[in-house]
Amino acid sequence: MTKVPVLVTGGAGYIGSHAVLALRDAGWPVAVIDNLTTGFRFAVPEGVPLYQGDIADADLLAQIFAEQGIGAVMHFAGSIIVPESVENPLKYYENNTAKSRSLIAAAVAAGVPHFIFSSTAATYGIPETSPVTEDSPKRPINPYGMSKLMTEIMLGDTARAHAINFCALRYFNVAGADPQARTGQSTAGATHLIKVAVEAALGKREDVAVFGTDFATPDGTGVRDYIHVSDLAAAHVLALEALIADPQRSLTMNCGYGQGFSVLDVLDAVDRVTNLTIHRRIEGRRAGDPDQLISDNRLIKATLPWVPRYADLDTIVGHALAWERRLTEIRGGC
Ligand SMILES: NC(=O)c1ccc[n+]([C@@H]2O[C@H](COP(=O)([O-])OP(=O)(O)OC[C@H]3O[C@@H](n4cnc5c(N)ncnc54)[C@H](O)[C@@H]3O)[C@@H](O)[C@H]2O)c1
Repeated sequence: MTKVPVLVTGGAGYIGSHAVLALRDAGWPVAVIDNLTTGFRFAVPEGVPLYQGDIADADLLAQIFAEQGIGAVMHFAGSIIVPESVENPLKYYENNTAKSRSLIAAAVAAGVPHFIFSSTAATYGIPETSPVTEDSPKRPINPYGMSKLMTEIMLGDTARAHAINFCALRYFNVAGADPQARTGQSTAGATHLIKVAVEAALGKREDVAVFGTDFATPDGTGVRDYIHVSDLAAAHVLALEALIADPQRSLTMNCGYGQGFSVLDVLDAVDRVTNLTIHRRIEGRRAGDPDQLISDNRLIKATLPWVPRYADLDTIVGHALAWERRLTEIRGGC
């Protein structure tokens, strides 16, 4: 298969930077566009061209597509904080929906034939069944989930009308870091549980909040499907190969392990891996948190030769911890 140059939007961010590594490790030429609002220059490996700019800048995109001979787009750029999307919905409809529309239009105009999109389990809202299948009702309960669902819909309509196919991957709870600690989650004030817990383990926070202990789950805390970011990145590369192999076919698939861990399971794992006891602060439930959110991943497993390598919770925590230590070094100990 010809390895076409891939433009990674948001490639200086958490998941995008792992996709850049996965592509590069597999021999695909890569370029990044990122406006560095939440991303970091250091997350883009040396030798990968970084265009600092906005995904809605049509002139810049036309320049990149031509200069790099781009044959596929992997689209990670976006805004990702659910509570912020409730307070400021128009920011999310702008940055996630309207700007995705501009990016898709630029790809179509340049004749880029393949597009991979970071979607989310938030498109399901509060699922009626668990594990949740791709054909479950899509009823997002916040503007973030809706802004991503709207992009899925645009891609579906565009692929029917133009010579482009797409894969939307609906991620569950993304966690961990590159096993070689080349990149990881670097956002200050991140809200992801494993990130927050390893920050607490390293003394960057006093404690970890447990939001709700009265869910309908075995230990009363919320159950989620944590997926290692490098397994997720690997799924993107395989999805790209599938799109190239069959340009008539588009795909929308869950991306998770299909296994659930509670908040307390995760904190126990962090205690185990660090040999510490992280202080747990019990808080009330947050609005809209389902009891459990677990993927049915039969479709992706049947469609792609995807074999997760890091599905062990302690491994995910260990890699997140190693990155958090590395990040402390990068930031000069602060
Ligand atoms: N983190 C998760 O658990 C999770 C779960 C489901 C889906 N996703 C999706 O994955 C994608 C990546 O998330 P992440 O966790 O890596 O977030 P992130 O904030 O680390 O990365 C987003 C990147 O996009 C860049 N960016 C944002 N808006 C831009 C714009 N208009 N133009 C150019 N660059 C822009 C940011 O600077 C950043 O580098 C997002 O689309 C998010 O919706 C994430």
